[in-house]
Amino acid sequence: MALRDFFISLSENEAISTAAQNYGFKLGAQHIVAGANLQEVIESVRTLNEQGIACTIDNLGEFVTEEATAIQAKDEILALIEAIHSEQLNAHISLKPSQLGLDIDIDFCYDNLHEIVEHANECGIFVNFDMEDSPRLQMTFDMLKELQKSFNNVGTVIQAYLHRAKGDIENFKDSRLRVVKGAYKESEEIAYQDQLEIDINFLELIEYHLTHGLFTSIATHDHNIINHVKYFVEQYNIPKEKFEFQLLYGFRKDLQVELAREGYQVCVYVPYGEDWYGYFMRLLAERPQNINLVTKRVFNK
Ligand code: FDA
Repeated sequence: MALRDFFISLSENEAISTAAQNYGFKLGAQHIVAGANLQEVIESVRTLNEQGIACTIDNLGEFVTEEATAIQAKDEILALIEAIHSEQLNAHISLKPSQLGLDIDIDFCYDNLHEIVEHANECGIFVNFDMEDSPRLQMTFDMLKELQKSFNNVGTVIQAYLHRAKGDIENFKDSRLRVVKGAYKESEEIAYQDQLEIDINFLELIEYHLTHGLFTSIATHDHNIINHVKYFVEQYNIPKEKFEFQLLYGFRKDLQVELAREGYQVCVYVPYGEDWYGYFMRLLAERPQNINLVTKRVFNK
């Protein structure tokens, strides 16, 4: 089994995930998770805002199978929206539909999302639906389309590894979109497996949305992609207000600050909460060197 597959299978293992939470088996995850609770994450966001960096905040959790757990997650996100609003933070929400009950019942999930988006809309806050693995993709797009009939403060993510991505980005060109390479294990029938093919598609999607779309979040730690985007926006006179670079909390902090100093909009994806295990394992899956980042900090404390 390849290392990537090994970590992805660990990310989906419920028993280990529960054990990790229950026994506080932190493995250094605190360096890439911005806090265990609302109060802690607010402090982390404030610090980033002071450096001229915006945030998208994710209350960690996914693949929920109990209604009560999904409702608890919804209530936490509503409280987070309140906090962003009252503390006047430069931040918006990222969420995973499977945390809000997508695997239980789509109508139940839709109602939860509706409540969140409606409240965020009242507070002038944007909500982004993270894109999960392919079985959840069309349902996520369908719920988004329905919500966009009433609200314009909601968008999602386009994954460049998917063959269908160009059609999807065209379909949602009037939305604010985050474009990424894609983090899940998908079959060759539906997804590019070759890194170069993914990178080429990634750049084409970014260029399309920069020139045809509403607002583009370019979410990557790849300096080659970032440098290409810098060159492209210059060539096509794309104003800096029309796009931002997004990076994950704890990753390439130097680059985050450097981009902000150069005058680009930078937004950091800030995860918080107890349910960090799946997120953490996917990060190890996609870049095993990430384990160095974590272990070095654990042992150099
Ligand atoms: P990738 O991992 O392909 O690395 C390319 C090169 O960049 C490396 O070879 C190295 O040179 C450099 N590099 C990368 N990381 C580095 C580091 N830490 N330090 C130094 N150099 C580094 N996925 C998804 O499916 N759904 C989603 O909703 C999201 N959301 C999301 C939000 C944000 C803000 C980000 C940054 C990413 C996501 N993703 C995601 C994950 C995304 O799909 C992808 O899996 C990861 O970002 C990894 O791909 P990269 O483009 O970062 O570079």
